[in-house]
Amino acid sequence: MVELVLNLQGCGHSFTCPDGTEIGVLGGLDLAVRSGESVAVAGRSGSGKSTLLSVLGLLRTPHAGRYWVEGKRTDTLSDHEFARLRGEAFGFVFQEYLLMPRHTVFDNVALPLSTGNKRAWKDRGARVRGLLEMVGLSDRIDAVPSQLSGGEKQRVAIARALARSPRVVLADEPSGALDPVTADAVIGVLLEATRSEGVALVVVTHDAAVARRTDRQLVLANGRLWPKGAVSQ
Ligand SMILES: Nc1ncnc2c1ncn2[C@@H]1O[C@H](COP(=O)(O)OP(=O)(O)O)[C@@H](O)[C@H]1O
Ligand SMILES: [Mg+2]
Repeated sequence: MVELVLNLQGCGHSFTCPDGTEIGVLGGLDLAVRSGESVAVAGRSGSGKSTLLSVLGLLRTPHAGRYWVEGKRTDTLSDHEFARLRGEAFGFVFQEYLLMPRHTVFDNVALPLSTGNKRAWKDRGARVRGLLEMVGLSDRIDAVPSQLSGGEKQRVAIARALARSPRVVLADEPSGALDPVTADAVIGVLLEATRSEGVALVVVTHDAAVARRTDRQLVLANGRLWPKGAVSQ
């Protein structure tokens, strides 16, 4: 049996401009992601990659289509169930890191656990230290973000995304602000950390070297996802 963690079918989404015209961004888009699988998504700027990630992460409700997360049809959930699924199923990594500037590395990674169950918060010391070891930052545990390099900040963000043991990490151009050598190392950390935790990964990236290291590579064009090579970018 193939276990799908995400199953998005016939997804459509458009934005309304201030003058009232509609811009169709996603249309008839299908994406199924298996448990633990890594998927890279490329595509031109403005093709809808960030919009797609926000739909996948339950941050945005698409105008058309059906979406199952871990077999649950998302449009049948109550507000409470929907919010809970979003908090439990997904971890996010953004190009801009989005760390809390006055919090230490430890506190940034521990923060998501403060809204989880009480046991996870009580046990946060071991969990956070384990994650920081996994991303190679054990020696920076007491630093604040301004003392870290870009690559180190993104490693903190990766550890934070995994803190609550999500089933899927959604990463939007995670190496977009890094030099090529650092980008490669950070993506290696992202792939290894999600693999060792058994977490699926959908990563938006323009970097072919990054994409090659994932299980599957797709391109977003004309509102849909295509196998890499099927469309010119
Ligand atoms: N909140 C919004 N309001 C209006 N248009 C938007 C909004 N967000 C994105 N768009 C438009 O939707 C299209 C896709 O955007 P986006 O998903 O950010 O693309 P990508 O991440 O591939 O660069 C772009 O044309 C963008 O201008
Ligand atoms: Mg984007």
